[in-house]
Amino acid sequence: MDVERIRSDFPILNDITYMDSASTSLTPEPVLEAILEYYREFNANVGRGVHRLSQLASLKYDDAHRKVAGFIGAQNEDVVFTKNSTEAINLVASGLGLGKGDRVVTTLIEHHSNFLPWMRLKKFGVDLGVVLPGEDGLFNASDFEYALDDKTRVVAVTHASNVLGTISPIREISRICKEQGVLLLVDGAQSAPHMHVDVRELGCDFFIFSGHKMLGPTGTGVLWAKDPEVIEPLFYGGGMIEDVSIDTCTLAQGYERLEAGTPHIAGGIGLGKAVDYLEGVGMDAIGNHEARLTKKILDGLVDIRGVQVYGSLDPAHRIGVVSFNVESLNPHDVALMLDEAAGIMVRSGHHCCIPLMKHFGLEAGTLRASLYLYNTEEEVDRFLEVVWEIARVA
Ligand SMILES: Cc1ncc(COP(=O)(O)O)c(C=O)c1O
Repeated sequence: MDVERIRSDFPILNDITYMDSASTSLTPEPVLEAILEYYREFNANVGRGVHRLSQLASLKYDDAHRKVAGFIGAQNEDVVFTKNSTEAINLVASGLGLGKGDRVVTTLIEHHSNFLPWMRLKKFGVDLGVVLPGEDGLFNASDFEYALDDKTRVVAVTHASNVLGTISPIREISRICKEQGVLLLVDGAQSAPHMHVDVRELGCDFFIFSGHKMLGPTGTGVLWAKDPEVIEPLFYGGGMIEDVSIDTCTLAQGYERLEAGTPHIAGGIGLGKAVDYLEGVGMDAIGNHEARLTKKILDGLVDIRGVQVYGSLDPAHRIGVVSFNVESLNPHDVALMLDEAAGIMVRSGHHCCIPLMKHFGLEAGTLRASLYLYNTEEEVDRFLEVVWEIARVA
Protein backbone atom coordinates (compact mmCIF):
# COMPACT_ATOMS: atom_id res chain seq x y z
CA MET A 1 0.00 0.00 0.00
CA ASP A 2 1.49 3.30 -1.13
CA VAL A 3 0.82 5.59 1.84
CA GLU A 4 2.63 8.56 0.32
CA ARG A 5 0.45 8.32 -2.78
CA ILE A 6 -2.65 8.09 -0.61
CA ARG A 7 -1.56 11.11 1.43
CA SER A 8 -1.35 13.23 -1.69
CA ASP A 9 -5.15 12.87 -1.93
CA PHE A 10 -5.47 14.56 1.47
CA PRO A 11 -3.86 18.04 1.19
CA ILE A 12 -5.15 18.86 4.69
CA LEU A 13 -2.36 16.57 5.97
CA ASN A 14 0.34 18.99 4.82
CA ASP A 15 1.09 20.33 8.26
CA ILE A 16 -0.85 18.21 10.73
CA THR A 17 -0.97 14.67 12.04
CA TYR A 18 -4.54 13.49 12.15
CA MET A 19 -5.23 10.75 14.71
CA ASP A 20 -8.93 11.38 15.22
CA SER A 21 -10.46 9.33 12.41
CA ALA A 22 -12.72 7.43 14.82
CA SER A 23 -14.54 10.74 15.25
CA THR A 24 -14.66 11.58 11.59
CA SER A 25 -12.22 10.69 8.85
CA LEU A 26 -10.60 13.02 6.37
CA THR A 27 -12.04 13.29 2.87
CA PRO A 28 -9.89 12.52 -0.21
CA GLU A 29 -9.90 14.66 -3.34
CA PRO A 30 -11.81 12.14 -5.53
CA VAL A 31 -14.71 12.22 -3.05
CA LEU A 32 -14.68 16.02 -3.01
CA GLU A 33 -14.64 16.01 -6.82
CA ALA A 34 -17.63 13.64 -6.97
CA ILE A 35 -19.60 16.01 -4.73
CA LEU A 36 -18.67 19.03 -6.83
CA GLU A 37 -19.44 17.17 -10.02
CA TYR A 38 -23.00 16.58 -8.81
CA TYR A 39 -23.53 20.27 -8.03
CA ARG A 40 -21.80 21.47 -11.17
CA GLU A 41 -23.11 19.02 -13.73
CA PHE A 42 -26.35 17.27 -12.75
CA ASN A 43 -27.72 19.10 -9.74
CA ALA A 44 -31.34 17.88 -9.61
CA ASN A 45 -33.65 15.97 -7.29
CA VAL A 46 -33.78 12.17 -7.42
CA GLY A 47 -36.67 9.81 -8.14
CA ARG A 48 -38.95 12.71 -9.04
CA GLY A 49 -38.32 13.99 -12.55
CA VAL A 50 -38.24 12.77 -16.13
CA HIS A 51 -35.84 15.44 -17.34
CA ARG A 52 -32.26 14.56 -18.14
CA LEU A 53 -30.68 16.03 -15.07
CA SER A 54 -33.01 14.26 -12.66
CA GLN A 55 -32.52 10.98 -14.51
CA LEU A 56 -28.75 11.29 -14.25
CA ALA A 57 -28.83 12.28 -10.57
CA SER A 58 -31.17 9.33 -9.82
CA LEU A 59 -28.89 6.95 -11.68
CA LYS A 60 -25.82 8.07 -9.73
CA TYR A 61 -27.68 8.03 -6.42
CA ASP A 62 -28.99 4.48 -7.07
CA ASP A 63 -25.52 3.45 -8.11
CA ALA A 64 -24.12 4.74 -4.82
CA HIS A 65 -26.60 2.52 -2.94
CA ARG A 66 -25.45 -0.48 -4.96
CA LYS A 67 -21.78 0.24 -4.26
CA VAL A 68 -22.38 0.66 -0.54
CA ALA A 69 -24.45 -2.54 -0.40
CA GLY A 70 -21.65 -4.40 -2.18
CA PHE A 71 -19.10 -2.98 0.26
CA ILE A 72 -20.74 -4.85 3.17
CA GLY A 73 -21.61 -7.98 1.20
CA ALA A 74 -25.32 -7.21 1.05
CA GLN A 75 -27.11 -9.05 -1.69
CA ASN A 76 -29.79 -6.47 -2.30
CA GLU A 77 -29.75 -2.74 -2.87
CA ASP A 78 -31.66 -2.07 0.29
CA VAL A 79 -29.11 -0.05 2.11
CA VAL A 80 -30.83 3.04 3.43
CA PHE A 81 -28.84 6.27 3.43
CA THR A 82 -29.19 8.18 6.68
CA LYS A 83 -27.41 11.23 7.99
CA ASN A 84 -25.24 9.19 10.37
CA SER A 85 -25.14 6.02 12.48
CA THR A 86 -27.23 7.67 15.16
CA GLU A 87 -30.15 8.19 12.79
CA ALA A 88 -29.82 4.64 11.49
CA ILE A 89 -30.01 3.12 14.98
CA ASN A 90 -32.92 5.36 15.95
CA LEU A 91 -34.80 4.23 12.82
CA VAL A 92 -34.50 0.62 13.98
CA ALA A 93 -35.14 1.27 17.68
CA SER A 94 -38.27 3.29 17.01
CA GLY A 95 -39.46 1.25 14.05
CA LEU A 96 -39.74 -2.24 15.55
CA GLY A 97 -42.87 -1.46 17.57
CA LEU A 98 -41.33 -2.62 20.85
CA GLY A 99 -43.37 -2.11 24.01
CA LYS A 100 -44.38 -3.49 27.38
CA GLY A 101 -43.21 -7.03 27.90
CA ASP A 102 -40.30 -6.72 25.45
CA ARG A 103 -36.62 -6.71 26.38
CA VAL A 104 -33.60 -5.31 24.59
CA VAL A 105 -30.04 -6.35 25.47
CA THR A 106 -27.15 -4.03 24.83
CA THR A 107 -23.70 -3.56 26.40
CA LEU A 108 -21.78 -1.17 28.57
CA ILE A 109 -19.25 -0.31 25.87
CA GLU A 110 -21.80 1.15 23.47
CA HIS A 111 -21.50 4.63 22.07
CA HIS A 112 -24.45 6.69 23.38
CA SER A 113 -25.91 6.34 19.88
CA ASN A 114 -26.41 2.61 20.44
CA PHE A 115 -27.48 3.01 24.06
CA LEU A 116 -29.84 5.96 24.40
CA PRO A 117 -32.24 4.99 21.56
CA TRP A 118 -32.81 1.68 23.40
CA MET A 119 -32.87 3.26 26.85
CA ARG A 120 -35.58 5.65 25.60
CA LEU A 121 -37.83 2.63 25.01
CA LYS A 122 -38.07 2.16 28.79
CA LYS A 123 -40.72 4.90 28.60
CA PHE A 124 -42.85 2.46 26.65
CA GLY A 125 -42.32 -0.37 29.13
CA VAL A 126 -39.34 -2.04 27.43
CA ASP A 127 -36.85 -3.69 29.78
CA LEU A 128 -33.14 -3.01 29.07
CA GLY A 129 -30.39 -5.52 29.86
CA VAL A 130 -26.75 -4.40 29.82
CA VAL A 131 -23.90 -6.90 29.35
CA LEU A 132 -20.60 -5.91 30.97
CA PRO A 133 -17.18 -6.45 29.37
CA GLY A 134 -14.13 -7.78 31.20
CA GLU A 135 -11.42 -5.40 32.44
CA ASP A 136 -9.79 -5.70 29.00
CA GLY A 137 -12.99 -4.59 27.28
CA LEU A 138 -13.58 -8.02 25.75
CA PHE A 139 -16.83 -9.94 25.99
CA ASN A 140 -17.46 -13.48 26.94
CA ALA A 141 -20.12 -14.57 24.45
CA SER A 142 -21.74 -16.78 27.10
CA ASP A 143 -22.66 -13.62 29.05
CA PHE A 144 -25.11 -12.88 26.23
CA GLU A 145 -26.63 -16.32 26.70
CA TYR A 146 -27.38 -15.45 30.34
CA ALA A 147 -28.66 -11.96 29.45
CA LEU A 148 -31.23 -13.21 26.92
CA ASP A 149 -34.61 -14.40 28.15
CA ASP A 150 -37.84 -15.32 26.40
CA LYS A 151 -38.90 -11.65 26.32
CA THR A 152 -35.76 -10.49 24.51
CA ARG A 153 -36.53 -9.18 21.04
CA VAL A 154 -33.30 -7.38 20.13
CA VAL A 155 -29.59 -7.49 20.94
CA ALA A 156 -27.77 -4.27 19.98
CA VAL A 157 -24.00 -4.48 20.15
CA THR A 158 -21.02 -2.63 18.75
CA HIS A 159 -18.71 -4.46 16.36
CA ALA A 160 -15.65 -2.50 17.51
CA SER A 161 -15.47 -0.20 20.51
CA ASN A 162 -14.86 3.47 19.78
CA VAL A 163 -13.09 3.79 23.16
CA LEU A 164 -11.10 0.59 23.68
CA GLY A 165 -10.74 -0.50 20.08
CA THR A 166 -11.80 -4.00 21.11
CA ILE A 167 -13.71 -6.25 18.70
CA SER A 168 -16.88 -8.01 19.84
CA PRO A 169 -17.50 -11.72 19.12
CA ILE A 170 -20.34 -10.99 16.70
CA ARG A 171 -20.54 -14.45 15.12
CA GLU A 172 -20.95 -16.13 18.51
CA ILE A 173 -23.49 -13.54 19.61
CA SER A 174 -25.33 -14.07 16.32
CA ARG A 175 -25.49 -17.83 16.95
CA ILE A 176 -26.98 -17.22 20.40
CA CYS A 177 -29.52 -14.74 18.97
CA LYS A 178 -30.55 -17.14 16.21
CA GLU A 179 -31.06 -19.99 18.69
CA GLN A 180 -33.41 -17.77 20.67
CA GLY A 181 -35.15 -16.05 17.74
CA VAL A 182 -33.76 -12.63 18.70
CA LEU A 183 -32.90 -9.85 16.22
CA LEU A 184 -29.28 -8.69 16.21
CA LEU A 185 -28.25 -5.11 15.43
CA VAL A 186 -24.53 -4.56 14.91
CA ASP A 187 -23.15 -1.04 15.23
CA GLY A 188 -20.41 -1.06 12.61
CA ALA A 189 -19.45 2.61 12.89
CA GLN A 190 -15.90 1.66 13.89
CA SER A 191 -15.55 -1.59 11.98
CA ALA A 192 -16.81 -0.93 8.44
CA PRO A 193 -14.20 1.77 7.73
CA HIS A 194 -11.31 -0.48 8.76
CA MET A 195 -12.01 -4.12 7.97
CA HIS A 196 -13.68 -6.31 5.41
CA VAL A 197 -17.31 -6.70 6.51
CA ASP A 198 -19.80 -9.21 5.18
CA VAL A 199 -23.19 -8.84 6.82
CA ARG A 200 -24.21 -12.37 5.81
CA GLU A 201 -21.11 -13.87 7.39
CA LEU A 202 -21.67 -11.84 10.55
CA GLY A 203 -25.20 -13.22 10.73
CA CYS A 204 -26.83 -9.99 11.88
CA ASP A 205 -30.27 -8.57 11.09
CA PHE A 206 -29.25 -4.90 11.02
CA PHE A 207 -25.86 -3.37 10.32
CA ILE A 208 -25.27 0.34 10.61
CA PHE A 209 -22.28 2.59 9.96
CA SER A 210 -21.26 6.19 9.28
CA GLY A 211 -20.14 7.35 5.84
CA HIS A 212 -18.18 10.23 7.34
CA LYS A 213 -15.92 7.82 9.26
CA MET A 214 -14.90 6.04 6.04
CA LEU A 215 -13.75 8.91 3.82
CA GLY A 216 -17.30 9.94 2.91
CA PRO A 217 -18.83 13.36 3.49
CA THR A 218 -20.33 14.40 6.83
CA GLY A 219 -24.09 13.95 6.94
CA THR A 220 -23.87 10.40 5.60
CA GLY A 221 -24.65 7.11 7.33
CA VAL A 222 -26.03 3.72 6.36
CA LEU A 223 -28.61 1.24 7.58
CA TRP A 224 -28.71 -2.26 6.17
CA ALA A 225 -31.58 -4.50 7.23
CA LYS A 226 -31.96 -8.15 6.29
CA ASP A 227 -35.68 -7.49 6.08
CA PRO A 228 -36.31 -3.73 5.85
CA GLU A 229 -40.07 -4.37 6.02
CA VAL A 230 -39.86 -5.06 9.77
CA ILE A 231 -39.01 -1.39 10.30
CA GLU A 232 -41.98 0.96 10.42
CA PRO A 233 -40.79 4.28 8.92
CA LEU A 234 -40.20 7.10 11.36
CA PHE A 235 -40.60 9.78 8.69
CA TYR A 236 -43.43 10.05 6.21
CA GLY A 237 -43.57 12.38 3.22
CA GLY A 238 -42.35 12.74 -0.33
CA GLY A 239 -40.32 10.11 -2.10
CA MET A 240 -41.28 7.13 0.08
CA ILE A 241 -44.68 6.16 -1.28
CA GLU A 242 -46.09 4.17 -4.18
CA ASP A 243 -49.59 5.60 -3.94
CA VAL A 244 -51.65 7.86 -1.67
CA SER A 245 -55.39 8.30 -1.35
CA ILE A 246 -57.36 10.37 1.11
CA ASP A 247 -57.30 7.77 3.87
CA THR A 248 -54.38 5.46 3.12
CA CYS A 249 -51.03 5.12 1.40
CA THR A 250 -48.92 2.37 -0.07
CA LEU A 251 -45.25 2.64 0.80
CA ALA A 252 -42.51 2.38 -1.79
CA GLN A 253 -40.39 -0.76 -2.05
CA GLY A 254 -36.66 -0.70 -1.44
CA TYR A 255 -34.58 1.95 0.24
CA GLU A 256 -36.94 4.78 -0.70
CA ARG A 257 -39.40 3.49 1.92
CA LEU A 258 -37.09 4.69 4.71
CA GLU A 259 -35.67 7.78 2.98
CA ALA A 260 -38.53 10.28 3.17
CA GLY A 261 -37.98 13.73 1.68
CA THR A 262 -35.13 14.97 -0.50
CA PRO A 263 -32.05 13.00 0.59
CA HIS A 264 -28.45 14.20 0.89
CA ILE A 265 -27.88 13.43 -2.80
CA ALA A 266 -24.37 14.84 -3.10
CA GLY A 267 -23.46 13.10 0.16
CA GLY A 268 -24.74 9.74 -1.05
CA ILE A 269 -22.84 10.05 -4.31
CA GLY A 270 -19.74 11.11 -2.37
CA LEU A 271 -20.12 8.06 -0.15
CA GLY A 272 -20.27 5.82 -3.22
CA LYS A 273 -16.99 7.39 -4.33
CA ALA A 274 -15.49 6.78 -0.88
CA VAL A 275 -16.34 3.08 -1.29
CA ASP A 276 -14.59 3.09 -4.68
CA TYR A 277 -11.57 4.69 -3.04
CA LEU A 278 -11.39 2.20 -0.14
CA GLU A 279 -11.89 -0.78 -2.45
CA GLY A 280 -9.23 0.61 -4.78
CA VAL A 281 -6.73 0.56 -1.92
CA GLY A 282 -8.11 -2.75 -0.59
CA MET A 283 -9.68 -3.33 2.82
CA ASP A 284 -7.19 -6.06 3.68
CA ALA A 285 -4.26 -3.77 2.87
CA ILE A 286 -5.83 -1.03 5.02
CA GLY A 287 -6.41 -3.48 7.87
CA ASN A 288 -2.81 -4.75 7.75
CA HIS A 289 -1.38 -1.24 7.63
CA GLU A 290 -3.45 -0.17 10.63
CA ALA A 291 -2.57 -3.34 12.54
CA ARG A 292 1.15 -2.56 12.12
CA LEU A 293 0.72 1.01 13.34
CA THR A 294 -1.52 -0.08 16.21
CA LYS A 295 1.05 -2.57 17.46
CA LYS A 296 3.72 0.12 17.30
CA ILE A 297 1.60 2.65 19.17
CA LEU A 298 0.57 0.11 21.85
CA ASP A 299 4.12 -1.18 22.35
CA GLY A 300 5.38 2.40 22.57
CA LEU A 301 2.74 3.63 25.00
CA VAL A 302 3.03 0.74 27.47
CA ASP A 303 6.78 1.43 27.65
CA ILE A 304 6.28 5.03 28.75
CA ARG A 305 6.35 5.44 32.52
CA GLY A 306 3.17 7.13 33.77
CA VAL A 307 1.07 6.14 30.77
CA GLN A 308 -1.97 3.94 31.31
CA VAL A 309 -3.45 2.17 28.27
CA TYR A 310 -7.03 0.84 28.37
CA GLY A 311 -8.43 -2.25 26.68
CA SER A 312 -6.89 -5.48 25.48
CA LEU A 313 -3.34 -5.25 24.15
CA ASP A 314 -3.83 -8.29 21.94
CA PRO A 315 -3.70 -7.06 18.32
CA ALA A 316 -5.92 -9.95 17.25
CA HIS A 317 -8.81 -8.45 19.19
CA ARG A 318 -8.58 -4.81 18.30
CA ILE A 319 -8.65 -2.06 15.72
CA GLY A 320 -6.52 1.08 15.55
CA VAL A 321 -8.29 2.96 18.33
CA VAL A 322 -6.11 3.41 21.42
CA SER A 323 -7.31 5.00 24.65
CA PHE A 324 -4.82 6.08 27.27
CA ASN A 325 -4.04 8.59 30.01
CA VAL A 326 -0.81 10.31 31.06
CA GLU A 327 -0.21 10.36 34.82
CA SER A 328 -3.13 12.20 36.40
CA LEU A 329 -3.16 14.91 33.75
CA ASN A 330 -6.52 15.95 32.39
CA PRO A 331 -6.94 14.34 28.94
CA HIS A 332 -8.08 17.63 27.40
CA ASP A 333 -4.86 19.31 28.58
CA VAL A 334 -2.74 16.54 27.07
CA ALA A 335 -4.68 16.74 23.78
CA LEU A 336 -3.98 20.48 23.63
CA MET A 337 -0.28 19.86 24.35
CA LEU A 338 -0.09 17.32 21.51
CA ASP A 339 -1.61 19.82 19.13
CA GLU A 340 0.50 22.75 20.28
CA ALA A 341 3.77 20.84 20.42
CA ALA A 342 3.49 18.81 17.24
CA GLY A 343 0.21 19.47 15.41
CA ILE A 344 -1.11 16.06 16.46
CA MET A 345 -4.90 15.83 16.63
CA VAL A 346 -6.32 13.28 19.08
CA ARG A 347 -9.70 13.11 20.77
CA SER A 348 -10.07 13.58 24.54
CA GLY A 349 -12.91 13.16 27.02
CA HIS A 350 -15.74 10.61 27.31
CA HIS A 351 -16.02 9.69 23.63
CA CYS A 352 -19.85 9.55 24.01
CA CYS A 353 -19.43 6.53 26.32
CA ILE A 354 -20.15 7.93 29.78
CA PRO A 355 -21.49 4.66 31.29
CA LEU A 356 -18.22 2.91 30.36
CA MET A 357 -16.12 5.78 31.74
CA LYS A 358 -18.06 5.59 35.02
CA HIS A 359 -17.53 1.83 35.14
CA PHE A 360 -13.76 2.30 34.81
CA GLY A 361 -13.79 5.26 37.25
CA LEU A 362 -12.45 7.63 34.60
CA GLU A 363 -14.10 10.90 35.60
CA ALA A 364 -12.34 13.00 32.99
CA GLY A 365 -12.28 10.27 30.35
CA THR A 366 -9.25 9.37 28.27
CA LEU A 367 -7.14 10.44 25.33
CA ARG A 368 -7.86 8.52 22.17
CA ALA A 369 -5.58 8.16 19.19
CA SER A 370 -7.31 6.61 16.20
CA LEU A 371 -5.55 5.61 13.00
CA TYR A 372 -6.46 5.25 9.36
CA LEU A 373 -4.92 4.47 6.00
CA TYR A 374 -3.19 7.87 5.76
CA ASN A 375 -1.22 7.58 9.02
CA THR A 376 2.47 6.67 8.90
CA GLU A 377 5.13 5.01 11.08
CA GLU A 378 6.92 8.39 11.31
CA GLU A 379 3.77 9.99 12.68
CA VAL A 380 3.46 7.26 15.29
CA ASP A 381 7.13 7.74 16.27
CA ARG A 382 6.63 11.49 16.65
CA PHE A 383 3.42 10.95 18.62
CA LEU A 384 5.23 8.59 21.04
CA GLU A 385 8.11 11.05 21.45
CA VAL A 386 5.74 13.88 22.40
CA VAL A 387 3.73 11.68 24.80
CA TRP A 388 7.02 10.57 26.38
CA GLU A 389 8.06 14.20 26.83
CA ILE A 390 4.70 15.16 28.35
CA ALA A 391 4.87 12.18 30.75
CA ARG A 392 8.47 13.04 31.70
CA VAL A 393 7.64 16.54 32.88
CA ALA A 394 4.23 15.64 34.38
C1 LIG B 1 -19.30 2.90 17.73
C2 LIG B 1 -20.04 4.14 17.33
N1 LIG B 1 -21.36 4.09 17.15
C3 LIG B 1 -22.07 5.16 16.77
C4 LIG B 1 -21.47 6.36 16.55
C5 LIG B 1 -22.27 7.55 16.14
O1 LIG B 1 -21.92 7.93 14.85
P1 LIG B 1 -22.54 9.23 14.19
O2 LIG B 1 -22.00 10.38 14.96
O3 LIG B 1 -22.09 9.17 12.78
O4 LIG B 1 -24.01 9.12 14.34
C6 LIG B 1 -20.08 6.49 16.74
C7 LIG B 1 -19.39 7.77 16.56
O5 LIG B 1 -18.30 7.99 17.00
C8 LIG B 1 -19.36 5.34 17.12
O6 LIG B 1 -18.03 5.39 17.30
